Amino acid sequence: MSLIHFNQILVFSPITHTQMTWTDETDRQASGLVSPQYWQDIAKKLEAGGFDGVFFADTLSLADRDPAEARRTMEAGALFPRMDPFALIPYMASVTSHLGFGATLSTAGTPPFLAARRLATLDNMTGGRVAWNVVTSHVKSDYDALGLSQPDHDTRYDVADEYMEICYRLWDGFPRDALVMDAERRMFVDATKISRVEFSGKYLNCDAYPVTMCSPQGRPLIFQAGQSGRGLEFAATHADAIYALQSRLASMTAFVTRARETAAKLGQKRDPRIFFGLQPIVGGTEEEARARAEALKQRVPIDVAMSRLGAMIGIDLSKHDPDKPLEEVSTEASRGILMAVLDSIGDRAPTVREAALHWGVAYGSGQIVGTPEQVADEIERHWRESGCYGFNISPTNNPSSVIDFVEEVAPILRKRGLMRDGYAGTTYRQNLDQKS
Ligand SMILES: Cc1cc2nc3c(=O)[nH]c(=O)nc-3n(C[C@H](O)[C@H](O)[C@H](O)COP(=O)(O)O)c2cc1C
Repeated sequence: MSLIHFNQILVFSPITHTQMTWTDETDRQASGLVSPQYWQDIAKKLEAGGFDGVFFADTLSLADRDPAEARRTMEAGALFPRMDPFALIPYMASVTSHLGFGATLSTAGTPPFLAARRLATLDNMTGGRVAWNVVTSHVKSDYDALGLSQPDHDTRYDVADEYMEICYRLWDGFPRDALVMDAERRMFVDATKISRVEFSGKYLNCDAYPVTMCSPQGRPLIFQAGQSGRGLEFAATHADAIYALQSRLASMTAFVTRARETAAKLGQKRDPRIFFGLQPIVGGTEEEARARAEALKQRVPIDVAMSRLGAMIGIDLSKHDPDKPLEEVSTEASRGILMAVLDSIGDRAPTVREAALHWGVAYGSGQIVGTPEQVADEIERHWRESGCYGFNISPTNNPSSVIDFVEEVAPILRKRGLMRDGYAGTTYRQNLDQKS
């Protein structure tokens, strides 16, 4: 029997991906934003619920260019303010012992030497529970904020290939058994085991000894979310797990097939592990759950949602009629997100309004609305039929979404032998491999 694996998506901001949830009187994320205990309680709950890990999504900058749009985004608290998840992880890790922690770090702005060192340090301090969501910053404003010019779509991935190679060499270049700590021989480190990295590429260089030993899980776990042709090649080459967005089961199944074909073409020995974004909305009855889903949609300000979605797909949607279909265009931003959004309804392209509202609530994830039993059934069906490895669960309100899932849905899946009852290992990598 295989297990369904789960990560919890979070953003270090007053909301996760559902806009305006901070206005809900039961929501605690805005008031808990800078409270270590708020985040620690979420971490403890997720570990009690058997989640593999937490996945912090992040982009660096406010993407809205137009001052009025930027003001609306800020006023709506739409992922604003947004803080650095790497600063938060140690707080959450300190109250847990098995839960993994993934955070997004861009290949833009941080030289690979610094990224590799920071990740290895955190991975050591958590006993091997860190994952890195590698992004290349598809939003141009991230590059503007860093004072850099944004390379075109495919070049970003070429740069990232070199970036990864440098990180691998730095991590592998300082194995743990180099730490001999032999007082008699006056030898702390066996220097013959440390390999200098001399990398000279088309885009990046690094000439250094690695200075941070690798962690109990070797390299940190790698997550990636490229969905275009070039993006999926990058993901299939580097990622231990791929985070993908498809709103419908048929598209999930097609994506798994495409990812497997891409991996096979690249000579990868195992199938990629795909985690689809999924947003459960649980209610005591189906009607109650549907009413909750509708209320969440009603609250989304359409102009803010259009500007948020526009930034992701690289199109200024403010110039579009919200009731006309969203069109396929060539974009230098996220082709994967654009493809997923265009496909979200199925037999026709969504209107700009439909796409923006779906984005404003679910951020491109599939939604499952119903009683705990119905949600568990649908999760199992999506998992069995699509062939995915698991789900990145997108909460609406926090912490109630986490609590509802852990207390009401997870026990049903556990009873069916589909969700873990205890962790097999102590590292993220070991637990990701857990089969029963
Ligand atoms: C499911 C999903 C999640 C993503 N999460 C982030 C994120 O947290 N931060 C970010 O900068 N980019 C994020 N991205 C953007 C991707 O990392 C990638 O840069 C972008 O989709 C462009 O690649 P593509 O055209 O190959 O899809 C995400 C994309 C997808 C599909």
